[in-house]
Amino acid sequence: MASPDQAPKGTGYLTSSLATPVSPVEAALRPLSFSDFAGQPKTVERLKVMVGAAKRRGEALNHILLSGPPGLGKTTLAFILGQELGRTVRVTSGPVIEKAGDLAGLLTNMEEGDILFIDEIHRIPKTVEEYLYSAMEDFRLDIMIDQGPNARSVRLSIPRFTLIGATTRSGLLTAPLRSRFTLNTRLDYYDHATLEGIVRRSCGLLKVEIDVGGAQEIATRARGTPRIANNLINFCRDYASEKAQGKITQPVAAAALELLEIDAAGLDEMDKRVLRLMAENYKGGPVGLGTIAIAVGEEAETLEEVHEPFLIQEGYLARTAQGRVLTAKGYQAIGLKAAVGGDQQSLL
Ligand SMILES: Nc1ncnc2c1ncn2[C@@H]1O[C@H](COP(=O)(O)OP(=O)(O)O)[C@@H](O)[C@H]1O
Ligand SMILES: [Mg+2]
Repeated sequence: MASPDQAPKGTGYLTSSLATPVSPVEAALRPLSFSDFAGQPKTVERLKVMVGAAKRRGEALNHILLSGPPGLGKTTLAFILGQELGRTVRVTSGPVIEKAGDLAGLLTNMEEGDILFIDEIHRIPKTVEEYLYSAMEDFRLDIMIDQGPNARSVRLSIPRFTLIGATTRSGLLTAPLRSRFTLNTRLDYYDHATLEGIVRRSCGLLKVEIDVGGAQEIATRARGTPRIANNLINFCRDYASEKAQGKITQPVAAAALELLEIDAAGLDEMDKRVLRLMAENYKGGPVGLGTIAIAVGEEAETLEEVHEPFLIQEGYLARTAQGRVLTAKGYQAIGLKAAVGGDQQSLL
């Protein structure tokens, strides 16, 4: 449940029985307006244009799809849009909308201009997805009631609402669904300077003492992801209060994160395991994602959503038609050197 103090004046953040929970720490640190939201300049600019135009016309905002890896701010942006428009945001997620009736229940209870936020929209059942098309396009739902000879279809008209979809896997969305969003915008990993700013802001809100070196250290190891940065701050705060009079300095942050086995580049145990497996068992690849997943004991989906995008963006891995290949930087990250000519490596 969203805590009441998370809801800014004039805006109700309603959660239904189909809602996804929000942790209290996340709610406390979540930016509530565009001015608090650092980074993602392209996405923010696009959203501001749409908000401005919707307000000017006095109409509902057009439907928006936010995609990108977990923890980059998709949910945050959906709430900010509600806040900027002064509209209620109803939160739900793809897998909990099991049947058309669930969707009808959500949509018929909305008011004109309200926002329906569907997290993990790529996991919405196909049978429900078809109802979403007419809801998004024509603001109506044709629902079948009864079965057999009594079966009939009832047309429900629904208020003009805004659908904001979030997905970590926009590639899994069907073309008809994707094409019904006016804007499809992708969030990127945050650069170091922006993350450092986010770390300082979070520490300020949490009243955690941190110096420049400490903030830089956490930003470096946060995998370009605000949610991870916030989690690291929490751990560093505990570490600092147990071992270092409460202040997060560079050596304190480094020691704390070493304890979590997060290395200087932000790679965690699973990232390293993937790289090591590719180097040691597959001579650097190419190797298929499914094979990697089984060998490291992780879900292929998690590897693809969480680990791989960062490893590829930072140049540790490359994706080819034949499979994933390890780059020279990937070998370096695990203390190996790619041999010239390919398939052998030696310890540095
Ligand atoms: N641009 C940002 N500036 C500051 N904090 C952010 C930003 N984006 C995300 N966060 C923080 O990261 C947390 C996770 O963001 P969230 O919107 O839940 O990510 P997603 O929905 O993409 O998984 C939020 O609680 C918020 O505190
Ligand atoms: Mg989210």
